[in-house]
Amino acid sequence: MKITDSIRYVGVNDHEIDLFEGQYIVPNGMAYNSYVILDREIAVMDSVDRRFGGEWVEKLRAELGGREPDYLVVQHMEPDHSANIVLFSETWPKAKIVASAKAFAMMKNFFGTDFADRRIIVGEGDSLTLGEHTLRFLTAPMVHWPEVIMTYDEKDGVLFSADAFGKFGALDTEEDWACEARRYYFGIVGKYGAQVQALLKKAAALEIRTICPLHGPILTENLGYYLDLYQTWSAYGVETEGVVIAYTSVYGHTEEAAKLLAEKLLEKGCPKVAVNDLARCDMAEAVEDAFRYGKIVLATTTYNAEIFPFMREFIQHLTERGYRNRTVGLIENGSWAPTAAKVMKGMLEGCKNLTFTETTVRINSALSAESRQQLEQLAEELLG
Ligand code: FEO
Repeated sequence: MKITDSIRYVGVNDHEIDLFEGQYIVPNGMAYNSYVILDREIAVMDSVDRRFGGEWVEKLRAELGGREPDYLVVQHMEPDHSANIVLFSETWPKAKIVASAKAFAMMKNFFGTDFADRRIIVGEGDSLTLGEHTLRFLTAPMVHWPEVIMTYDEKDGVLFSADAFGKFGALDTEEDWACEARRYYFGIVGKYGAQVQALLKKAAALEIRTICPLHGPILTENLGYYLDLYQTWSAYGVETEGVVIAYTSVYGHTEEAAKLLAEKLLEKGCPKVAVNDLARCDMAEAVEDAFRYGKIVLATTTYNAEIFPFMREFIQHLTERGYRNRTVGLIENGSWAPTAAKVMKGMLEGCKNLTFTETTVRINSALSAESRQQLEQLAEELLG
């Protein structure tokens, strides 16, 4: 696949993977992107997942037309991109490995060698001239590991963006970009909003015509759309007006309350209500919804004088990703000593800029006239 006259795609699609990074379901598979820049000298940008080494080398050979690569630029050491560095180094023993100092330290740990005799260490602002193409390196620590560099090709205005601007899904399937890019972003990079903001500042100074990420499609048009979404996500801003209701329910009573609240919100004109049953939905979908909307309602049962396990896990996902800037409503259920609201509020204590609604709904086993009235109040308050 041709990206520009001299930049080619040599990545692979993975439809066999069960869980990406050991936890994310990827119904449409995953792409591990790699690129080759053909100039007087040749640079390969990153490798691919371990299982695709042979396919990758074959694709590279097809693009190289009998030539040999001069460099492998390693932007990120997570094994979905770095696993075939050794294969590359053995296949093309004269080629140099280009990476940050931290990446070489990681290579030593992963592979037992840091390629001391054939390495080029690069940092912020360093460049590598291939001929017509000059590659300028930007550091992007924690987007999404500390060793990450990104690469800007000055000739074609291409930003090789490592994991940034990536998404779940192989490249031979059609799907909406934002949906799977948002789930990917909040799942994988969500904790590092400040670092993504720093990267966006650097990117703003570049004339970018194409973004080549390590996952997902190559972005060539309407780049402002993607950059704006990254701006909103990394600033923990509200992307979509509406309310997300996340609940767990044992015998259906808390679920009934969650669904009744959703109905009331929609009747009262709420533009969008997303409802997630945390025991059954994809947790990563629920997490992206929590960061997408400005208002959230958490509904759960009291359980072992605590809260139901799926809600505990969900709130942990939010807090470890720096959840903030949201309005939060709480619904608790308990048959003899409801404490869930207090526990949930306690778990969210360290989050910045959360506003809790005055109304907390208390259900004693099943909905009553009183708790229905509280739901009505909560709906009014959320839309007020
Ligand atoms: Fe796609 Fe952080 O590796």
